[in-house]
Amino acid sequence: MTILVTGATGNVGRNVVHGLVRAGVRVRALTRNPAFPFPDDVEVVVGDLARPETVAPALAGVHALYLFPLAYLKPELSSFDDVITTEAIVGLAAAAGVRRVVMLGSSDPDFVHLERVVEGSGMAWTILRPGEFAVNKLNYWAPSIRAEGVVRTAYAEARGTPIHEADIADVAVAALLSDGHAGRHYELTGPQALTLREQVAAIAAGCGREIRLEQVSHERERAAMIDAGMPEVVVDEMILWYPANYAELMPPVSSAVREVTGHPGRTLAEWAADHAEEFR
Ligand SMILES: NC(=O)c1ccc[n+]([C@@H]2O[C@H](COP(=O)([O-])OP(=O)(O)OC[C@H]3O[C@@H](n4cnc5c(N)ncnc54)[C@H](OP(=O)(O)O)[C@@H]3O)[C@@H](O)[C@H]2O)c1
Repeated sequence: MTILVTGATGNVGRNVVHGLVRAGVRVRALTRNPAFPFPDDVEVVVGDLARPETVAPALAGVHALYLFPLAYLKPELSSFDDVITTEAIVGLAAAAGVRRVVMLGSSDPDFVHLERVVEGSGMAWTILRPGEFAVNKLNYWAPSIRAEGVVRTAYAEARGTPIHEADIADVAVAALLSDGHAGRHYELTGPQALTLREQVAAIAAGCGREIRLEQVSHERERAAMIDAGMPEVVVDEMILWYPANYAELMPPVSSAVREVTGHPGRTLAEWAADHAEEFR
C-alpha cells in the first residue's frame, strides 16, 4: 500500500510523512525540492502542485492521497487557476485509481468549493478543517521575541485556539490508514482557548525565555506587520480582523484530535518547546 503525500515539505505534510513512516507504510513524497531531508525509507518524487501534469506520474499505484490545497496557500496566490489546478489533481487521483483522499482544508469557508470537489470525486474522503496554526506565531511573533523578548499586540485579551501542526498531521495519518474516517469533516483546534496574553506566557514557558507583552494601538500593530513584509490583505483579513471584531468571544475548542488519535492535543507550551530554537 503506497500513500502519496503532497505538500510533503510543509508544516503539516512533513509530519504526515514521519507519521506514516512510523506506521510502517510505503510513503511517496511529492516535492519541487528533492534535496529536502526526508526519512530514509521515503520514495521522493519531483512534481509541482501548480502543474498537475507533473503530479500525474506520482499517482501510479497509490492507494491513498494526502491532498495539500495549493490554491489556498496564500490569499495573494489564490486565483481561479489555482483552484482549477487543485481540482485537476483530485480528478487525476480518482482516474489513477486512488481509493482514499484526506484533504487539508480549513475552518475558513473559502475552502468549501474544493471540499465539494473532493466529496464528489468518487474516492473515500476525509476533510480536515483546522483553525489557526500555532506555527503562524513564527511569522507574527518570533522576530520581535528573538530581537527584543517582546510581543506587541493591540488585543491582549482576545482568545484563540492555536493548534500544533503535528496534531493535524496525526489526524491525517489516522484517516489515511483506516476506512473508519470516510465521509467525515473534522474541525480541528488546539486543546485550549487562550488569550493572547496567555499564549505569550505559554510560549515563554515552552521555549524557556522571558517574553514581555506590550499593549499597542491597532494602527501600530498593523503598521509593524506591514513593515515586516506581510501583505495588507493578510493583516486586515486574517490576522487582525478576528481579534478586532471578536475580542471578547470564547472560541469553541474541538475534541476531534483526542477522539481520532487517542491522545490529547498538544498544548501551546509543548508546541513552543518543539520550536524553541526558532525563538532564540
Ligand atoms: N496557517 C493557518 O493558520 C491555516 C489555518 C487553516 C488552514 N490552513 C491551510 O493550510 C495550508 C498550509 O499548510 P502547511 O503549513 O502544512 O503548508 P506549508 O508549510 O505552507 O507548505 C507548503 C507546501 O506547498 C508547496 N508549495 C509552496 N508554494 C508552492 C508553489 N508556488 N507551487 C507549488 N507548490 C508550492 C511546498 O512544496 P514543495 O515541497 O514543492 O516546496 C510545501 O510543501 C494552507 O492551504 C492554508 O490555507 C492554514
